[in-house]
Amino acid sequence: MIEPTPVKTYHDIAGDGGSDVLGQAAAQRHAIESALAGVRRVLAVGSGKGGVGKSTLTLGLARALARRGQAVAILDADLNGPSQAQMAGVAASPWVPGADGLEPPRRRDGIAVVSTGSVLAGGRPVEFDTVSHGDGHVWRATREFALLGQLLATVRWGQLDALLVDLPPGAERTVHFAELLMGLAGDRCAFVLVTIPSEVARGVVARSVTALAETGARLAGVIENMAGYWCRDCGAVKPLFPDAAAAGGAGLGAPSLGAVPFDPALAALADRGWPEGEEGGAAIAALDGVAARLLAAIEAIEEAR
Ligand SMILES: Nc1ncnc2c1ncn2[C@@H]1O[C@H](COP(=O)(O)OP(=O)(O)OP(=O)(O)O)[C@@H](O)[C@H]1O
Ligand SMILES: [Mg+2]
Repeated sequence: MIEPTPVKTYHDIAGDGGSDVLGQAAAQRHAIESALAGVRRVLAVGSGKGGVGKSTLTLGLARALARRGQAVAILDADLNGPSQAQMAGVAASPWVPGADGLEPPRRRDGIAVVSTGSVLAGGRPVEFDTVSHGDGHVWRATREFALLGQLLATVRWGQLDALLVDLPPGAERTVHFAELLMGLAGDRCAFVLVTIPSEVARGVVARSVTALAETGARLAGVIENMAGYWCRDCGAVKPLFPDAAAAGGAGLGAPSLGAVPFDPALAALADRGWPEGEEGGAAIAALDGVAARLLAAIEAIEEAR
C-alpha cells in the first residue's frame, strides 16, 4: 500500500517554499483583469438567504437588460449548486476551449452563460480533492475561490455591458464574493440583494446589507421577490406571506428596486431552460421595471463617484 506523503505545515516551510505564491497570485490577477477588460459593469446578485429567487431573477434581469439592447453574460458562482445551466437552457452546451480561452455557451438571445452545470454530470458535485485531512474545509474554500478566479480569467467574456454574477446563499459568503469582485472590478462592481416578504428572510438579508456596507461594496438596491401570488386567471396579486412581513424592501436601509410576484409560469420557464417567445405575465413585466430602476440606480452611483 502506498502511504500518502505527509503534508508540511506552514511552520515547516521557509519563506514561500519556492512556490512563488505571490507571483502566481499577481499573474492570476493580471489574467482576470485582462479577461474582464471589456466588461463595463459587474452586477452581483445575492441575498444571504437561500431559495429566494436569486438565480431566477438573475436570468430574468439578464433577459430584461438584453431586451434593452445590452450585451450581457451570466456567471453562476455557485459551483456546487449550479442553477443557471438548467434555467438558461445551456446544460447540454459544454464550454468550448479556443486559442484565447473558453468560449462560453450562448443562448439564442445572445446571453452567454457560464455555469458548472454545463460540464458536470447530473447530480455530481465539483470535488475539491484534499490530502489535508482534518483541514479539508479550509482547503476546499480556497480551491473554490481559486477555481472561480480561473474561470473569470479563462472565459472569453468579450465586450459586455453587464456581467451578472449569480451568488450562492450565505451572508458570510456574500461578503467573500464582495471582496473578491471589488478587488477585481473595483468601481465597476455593484450588488443587488434579493429578499422575500418573510421576517426570517428579511433578518438574513439585513445582515447581508450591513456586512456589505462594512466592505465598502456598492449596493444598488434590494428586489423583493415572491411579493404575492399572481393569479393568471383573475389578474389579481394575492398574499403569499403574512401581512406583517409584506412591507417591501423597507427597513433594510437600501433602495428598493421593485417587487416581483410569484408566477407559477415563471417557475416552469426556469425549469425548462427559459425558452424564448413564452413570456408575458406579471413577474416578467415587474422584472422589466426592476431592470430600468437598476440601471438608473447604477448610473446614479457612477455619477456620484
Ligand atoms: N417570482 C417567482 N415566480 C415563480 N417562481 C419563482 C419565482 N422566484 C423564484 N421562483 C422559483 O423558486 C425556486 C427557487 O428559486 P431560485 O433557485 O432562483 O432561488 P435561489 O435564491 O437562487 O436559490 P439558492 O439559494 O439555492 O441559490 C425555483 O424553482 C424558481 O423557479
Ligand atoms: Mg441560486
